[in-house]
Amino acid sequence: MSFLYKADPVRGAEWARLFAEQAPDIPFRCWPDYGAAEQVRYLAAWLPPEDMASQFPNVEIVFSVGAGIDQFDFSLLPPHIPVVRMIEPGIADGMVEYVTHAVLAIHRQSHLYARQQREQRWQEHLIKPAASCRIGMLGLGVLGQAVLTKLRDFGFPCVGWSRSAHTLEGIKCYAGEDGLAAFLACSDILVCLLPLTENTRGILNRKLFAALPVGAAIVNVGRGGHLVEADLLEALDSGQLASATLDVFETEPLPAGHPFWDRPEIMLTPHIASMTQPAGAVEVVLDNIRRHQAGQPLIGLVDRSRGY
Ligand code: NDP
Ligand code: OXD
Repeated sequence: MSFLYKADPVRGAEWARLFAEQAPDIPFRCWPDYGAAEQVRYLAAWLPPEDMASQFPNVEIVFSVGAGIDQFDFSLLPPHIPVVRMIEPGIADGMVEYVTHAVLAIHRQSHLYARQQREQRWQEHLIKPAASCRIGMLGLGVLGQAVLTKLRDFGFPCVGWSRSAHTLEGIKCYAGEDGLAAFLACSDILVCLLPLTENTRGILNRKLFAALPVGAAIVNVGRGGHLVEADLLEALDSGQLASATLDVFETEPLPAGHPFWDRPEIMLTPHIASMTQPAGAVEVVLDNIRRHQAGQPLIGLVDRSRGY
């Protein structure tokens, strides 16, 4: 019986060290050195091998090394194999840092002051209280909730939107299509932390932007497929949106010459909002293996019918 890791090799070396320390009974293999294919029982991957089912016929669980699983082609994974996404504290901590930084930069006009510095212009602007800047979170899952809780504690009025109804202390929650317009109307900074599914693809579009307060800002840390890029440029041109902070893109790396590179209202980063931390990942993966062996429910099990 072995565990096969197929993702970033640098972090893989750390996984190997942690497995040797914490689970010496489970031989750890790093792709492409998978050893005897029929021995592989557990696979952790960003992208599973295309012919996984025939190449590794005895796999019992597929783990995503990321929180999102939209990169998986489920038609290639036999339906009886559970797919488990990554829920580990390091991802949430990184995302809380990134979005808090983005929101504070927008709220405290960091881009404006950076421009003024380049122009050697000393000019102060009034500071607005956090209470005057409303944050809307698309997605109230593990990451959306962690981020909103932190922003709420800064004093930003927070609202959230999800598929099913939620109750969160100090946060007004909306759900489903019926709740979307009211939610958007009170989102001065809109953050997207949805999974990419057939229902959420293209959700950040012209119609949605028009339902936000004039001059709103967006922060997309979900997936590039959530955003209709041409609609964003149009909304920035018209002033309907004041700025966009983007960490994820339809095509990654963002191609040279793409119009986003040169837009002063766009702040972009190369899909680094958060990263799975090996220590937390190995802990939850080993916990899930023990659960599986004991016939207990897995934590982070993907519901294939929902797509997340
Ligand atoms: P979760 O599965 O925990 O949460 C997803 C949330 O989205 C839930 O609240 C869910 O609603 C809601 N949702 C899903 N579909 C819909 C829909 N059609 N309408 C309304 N709400 C919907 O995911 P995480 O919080 O762990 O992660 C979210 C995403 O963040 C990942 O899928 C990934 O794409 C992205 N991510 C990006 C990273 C980066 O570095 N940029 C790093 C890590 C993750 P409900 O609660 O009702 O189920
Ligand atoms: C993830 C990511 O889904 O890094 O974990 O995007």
